Amino acid sequence: QAAQKGGYKHFMLKEIFEQPMVVTNCLTGRLSPDHKHVTLPELEEMPVPERLHIIACGTSFHAGLWAMYLMENWAKIPTSVEIASEYRYRDTILGEGDQVLVISQSGETADTLACLRKVKEQGAKVIGLCNVVGSSIARESDTVIYTQAGPEISVASTKAMCSQLVVLTLMALFWGRRKNLLTEMAETECLDTLKRIPEHLETALPEMRETARTLARQYSGARSFLFLGRGSCYPLALEGALKLKEISYIHAEGYAAGEMKHGPIALIDPDFPTFALALADDLFPKVQSNLQEVQARNGKIIALTQDGMDLTVDSVWKIPHAWGPLDVFFALPALQLFAYEVADYLGKDVDQPRNLAKSVTVE
Ligand code: G6P
Repeated sequence: QAAQKGGYKHFMLKEIFEQPMVVTNCLTGRLSPDHKHVTLPELEEMPVPERLHIIACGTSFHAGLWAMYLMENWAKIPTSVEIASEYRYRDTILGEGDQVLVISQSGETADTLACLRKVKEQGAKVIGLCNVVGSSIARESDTVIYTQAGPEISVASTKAMCSQLVVLTLMALFWGRRKNLLTEMAETECLDTLKRIPEHLETALPEMRETARTLARQYSGARSFLFLGRGSCYPLALEGALKLKEISYIHAEGYAAGEMKHGPIALIDPDFPTFALALADDLFPKVQSNLQEVQARNGKIIALTQDGMDLTVDSVWKIPHAWGPLDVFFALPALQLFAYEVADYLGKDVDQPRNLAKSVTVE
């Protein structure tokens, strides 16, 4: 096992550090020879969905939720994102040109598989986004796109989500282009950024780990954490909270920052820290004012932000700029590393957290 961990203390840490390679592998074979366009032969035969229904569980659900912003913004596809265990028992309605995208690292999650079967019975076309080759979801989907992330051992998913985000970005570009909605410049700029991310991330990861380690020591005494984000950072807030609770057993809640005033704000006090995603996007001023509300109640704040953003909070954690929503490729590992360092500091079994399974094949 020590050899398999490649010198890392845990598989989770190894997998977090594999993310630069994962981005490269995900892009392999998916760019046109001049690198200006996306090629996804898996989708070539299918029309662009009129509406897209994304169904998944856990971390894969968060990847789907993040993709909704891109599908709507770049490809103008009305998109809904559903938790599989809920979707399977609803009286769901699928229109003529609708398509279903099921996302599953393992390709074996019982609820997600049940949804796939249900929508196929209703006559819908299903796209599977899977990591495990030949898995049930991969086999039963009408077309499957593989994330090519390699085996993920740690129960808490890290690199698989990164790979899902790459493919989902490519899908949004692919459909946006088919609908003639993207300028060549925007597509090229996005692809150039994606191609540069591995190198950029490789350089950034060691320092990010150091910051995560310092913050972990400062904040690991907290019994509960609030993660806040808006827009495409909202799914990241959910994922940051999920990672922390999965492996450190510290209660954490991910919330849309603007929704805080409808409940969680009542909990804010000096012992209930907030981890905020305050990246340089259009919603930054809104997040900033949400954080002022936390500060007015003496809540401590860690803010994941970027150069040029004016924030005065207890702990400012700056990550590199990528391009628009692609900042996610730095924000995600920061959240993963924070959870990892807290759990490791507290001496938890990082790779095998209690009560959790890598693949949930029963309902
Ligand atoms: C389990 C795992 C999670 C994973 C979820 C969905 O709960 O512990 O890490 O995100 O299942 O798994 P899937 O294989 O369908 O992506």
